[in-house]
Amino acid sequence: MVNFPLPRIDLDPVLHDLLLPYCRIKIGEIWTNSGNRHKVGCIDSANSVHVKKMMKKETASLAVQDPPYNFVAFEEKKLSEFVNWCKRWVNISYNILSENASIYIWLGADQNNNFQPLSDFIRMMSSSGFTSRSFITMRNQRGYGTQKNWMSIRQELLYYIKGAPDFNIDAEYTEIPKILKGYYKTIDGKETENLERSKSENIRAGNVWVDIQQVFYRMEENVNGCYAQKPLKSIERIVLANSKEDEIIVDLFAHSGTTLIAAERLNRRCFTADIDPVFCEITIRRLENYRRNNKTGWQNSNPFAEDIIHDKKILSYLKKNYHFDLSYIKTENVAV
Ligand SMILES: C[S@@+](CC[C@H](N)C(=O)[O-])C[C@H]1O[C@@H](n2cnc3c(N)ncnc32)[C@H](O)[C@@H]1O
Repeated sequence: MVNFPLPRIDLDPVLHDLLLPYCRIKIGEIWTNSGNRHKVGCIDSANSVHVKKMMKKETASLAVQDPPYNFVAFEEKKLSEFVNWCKRWVNISYNILSENASIYIWLGADQNNNFQPLSDFIRMMSSSGFTSRSFITMRNQRGYGTQKNWMSIRQELLYYIKGAPDFNIDAEYTEIPKILKGYYKTIDGKETENLERSKSENIRAGNVWVDIQQVFYRMEENVNGCYAQKPLKSIERIVLANSKEDEIIVDLFAHSGTTLIAAERLNRRCFTADIDPVFCEITIRRLENYRRNNKTGWQNSNPFAEDIIHDKKILSYLKKNYHFDLSYIKTENVAV
């Protein structure tokens, strides 16, 4: 089905509750796919008992964490509560990672408010047991602050390690051709510049990623209804650099299930969790849709389209509140 978008589910509690009957797991439950390869837990990721229930005795070699952060109004109290909450899941992450492992954390920095919550988060990490490795910036096409400040177009990604994990540098070449010359060096009496000496025509990924497209509705990987989907390419880059086939990757904030799809495509296992049954269901459906149709998302349809089309209550709700028109929807080439 196409032309069947969903509004942001997190902003519409009525729609959210109308979707609950289509969710196969409730809070406290874990979905496991056949063969135990992947798990989706509907759990509170800051609760060690919940997370242990999902991990059992297994450990992961990589964690990719993308917690929710609302930096619209970070008052002091709210900020310290947020950082204390982060401390809990960071500590849990440490305990479920193997001896030598990596962790990546996406977190925002409000340039109008002392770069919070990132700055206090980084301070908290210094006593977490993890060692800092890199501070990556991914370019975000949707900026803010264009008139009175430098437009903010960055998404921050922190990379830490536990022990001494491998880092697969070969996976780290981008598709960006080298365009900047510089850095001359004399080799065997001949002056050479960096482009001549390099091993590849392309740039190796450094800690500024400008080659990754933000997800939007025209892309196959788009998952309508979600509000914070990370580009698959960014997660696949991390997975290739920091894990091996059949190893476990954990993502305690699944949302649209990007890490699960990356793990499936790259032959890793993924244990992922979300506190909200609707996002757990979306994550499971995204995997099933990928296995069935080889599609990474729904482009401008949505994960619940096949159910909603038969649900008069949801249809009339969408019609009333979003001026939704059924005649826009197309299945293959037949208008419904
Ligand atoms: C920023 S989104 C993650 C986006 C994800 N990386 C993706 O690509 O789709 C954060 C998610 O964390 C979930 N969440 C919030 N608090 C949680 C908690 N205590 N335990 C587990 N999940 C939580 C939210 O429901 C939301 O879906």
